[in-house]
This record gives sequence, C-alpha cells and structure tokens, in this order.
Amino acid sequence: MAKKTDISVLVVEDDIQYGQMLAEALKNLHFEVFLSFSATGGLDIIKKQKVDIILSDVNMPGISGIDFTRRIREMYLDIPVVLITGVNNLTMVDQALEIGASDYIVKPVKIEELPVMVERNLQRKARENRMFQDNRADTLLKALKALMRALDAKDPYTYGHSQRVVKLAMMMADRLNLDEERRYILQLAANLHDIGKIGMPDSILKKAEGLEDFEVRKAKDHPIVGSQILGEIEELAEVASIVRHHHERYDGDGYPDGLRGQAIPFFSRILSILDAYEALVSDRIYRKGMEKEKAFIEIAKNAGTQFDPNLVQIFIASMKKGLNGLQKDADEKSGDDDKNLLQIKKVI
Ligand SMILES: [Fe+2]
Repeated sequence: MAKKTDISVLVVEDDIQYGQMLAEALKNLHFEVFLSFSATGGLDIIKKQKVDIILSDVNMPGISGIDFTRRIREMYLDIPVVLITGVNNLTMVDQALEIGASDYIVKPVKIEELPVMVERNLQRKARENRMFQDNRADTLLKALKALMRALDAKDPYTYGHSQRVVKLAMMMADRLNLDEERRYILQLAANLHDIGKIGMPDSILKKAEGLEDFEVRKAKDHPIVGSQILGEIEELAEVASIVRHHHERYDGDGYPDGLRGQAIPFFSRILSILDAYEALVSDRIYRKGMEKEKAFIEIAKNAGTQFDPNLVQIFIASMKKGLNGLQKDADEKSGDDDKNLLQIKKVI
C-alpha cells in the first residue's frame, strides 16, 4: 500500500462546513488533500494538480455530481470518483455508477472507514487500468499481425526479408544491450520497415530491374507511406518515425528527408545497415545472394557515406563473432512471423 502522504484526495463538496470537516479528517489521516466547493473548481484543480482519487458530493448547484463524474470519465479515465450522498439519493448514485463512478458513501461519512475505502478504490481502478491496457496491447498486436499478413499476401519476398531483418535486429539489440522496451521498439520497426510497400503497384514492386524514373520516385515513397500507416496508431509514433527514415543515408543523400548523421533516428541507422545486408545476401529469382564475407566488405565500403560507421563496425563484429550462437539464427532464411510477433510484448 502506498504511503498515505503520497495519495492525494480531491474533496468536492458545496456544503462548506461539511467539506472542511472531511478535508480536515483526511489530512489527519495523512492524505494530501485538495478541497473545492464546486464541481467547476474541482475540474480546475485536476488540471493543475496530481489527484489520485476524488470524493464528490452528488447534489451540488451548477454542475451536479453526476455531470461532474461524466466529465471526469471523459477526460481522466484513470481517476476513481467516489460519490458522497444522502440516504435519499441512491437512485442518483445508481445513475452515477452507470456512467463510471467507482463507488459511493452515504452521509454521515464514517471517518474511520475512509482509508479502507480510498485504498479499495485505488486498487480496483489500478486493476481496471491494467485490463484496459492489456486489451489495447492485444488489439494492437492483432492489428499489426493483420498488416504483416497483408504484406505477405501482397509481396511474400518483402515479408520474408522483413522477418530476416528482425532476426538481425535482435542480434544487434543483444550486442547493444538494449533494455526490453527499446528492444521491442526495434523489433516492431524491423517487422514493419517496408510496410509502405503495401501501397506500391505490383508492376513496380515485382520488376526485377530497369525502373523508369517515375517508378523509382513511386518506389521511394514507401517509407513515407509506411510511416503514415503506422502514424495512425498513437502508440507507434516512434516506430513510424524509424520507418520513415530507414532509407536516409549517413551523408545526407538518402530519402525521404535527406537527414544526415546523428539527425537520423538511431534505430533507422541500424535498420538501414541490416536492410542492405539482408538484401545483398538473399537469393532473388533473377540472381543468387552474395557471400556473407563479400557482403560485409560491401557494407564496410559504404561506412561513413551510406551508413553510420560506428554501427557498421558493431554490426560486422557481432556478425563475425556470432554472438551467443545468434548468427546461426540470423542466417536462417525461413520467415517466422508468428514467433516474431508473439515476442512483441506491450509497447504501450
Ligand atoms: Fe525499404
């Protein structure tokens, strides 16, 4: 249980004396207390202060406890509202519980019961919030999986390529000692870096070589299209930005924004190396993949121009060492999207 002084309670009560009495009692129980004599005043306090729980009267002039609860629910989903009511007002309380009040207490309030009531409602709200977050994460994962399936249906090569880039990315995550959250962001970005190809016509996507100028321009749109698709999902804002910049070059000659050096997001700089390496070593219908050693030389040649030189060093060194046997994994060419996506835990 949190220390009571860490818990802030907002009391909203139009009866000045009763409000003061409640606030005083809560202070004596070592809660941090804010007191307002109107719902409007209460809303002002919430905008400025950290409030953990609200105790509000039901019957108030102006905005009633019911409307107040509704407004709190619209704006601050995670603050529990406990209504204080007279015995005659239980129908209103029913209404308030329906629109999201957490609990109610009947006047006269038994002061000694307040700490338990506060703790119970904070715990219940925390549980609800966790469930809400889990559901959101679940929905997000399903949406991402659907996107990957769409890419697979459209262009199995790009899908397989993305899966292989994920494996390389996880090797880099180990090498760079990324914490769990950063690791998942990189994993998501690796999975989704070419998702914008969904919007590319097959005539361009599947053309082996000899693209016309207008086709090259269209092909170069895919980082923008990808970041726009992902940008629709608030929680993926960072992933969208990494995807947007995965074809930037370290010397500033890349696309879509011509960012240079450290201005390119760190994970985009990583993906750009992995993306190029994977494309070099993988077999295509029209050519055989390059030998790994030759691909390393090719990547190293472009360190400082196309790629971040430090990251090239790290990449080649860890590929050669085959960190903890992960090189073997990285070399396997089978796509395994279910396994990869299942590893993507919550990023929200
Ligand atoms: Fe790409």
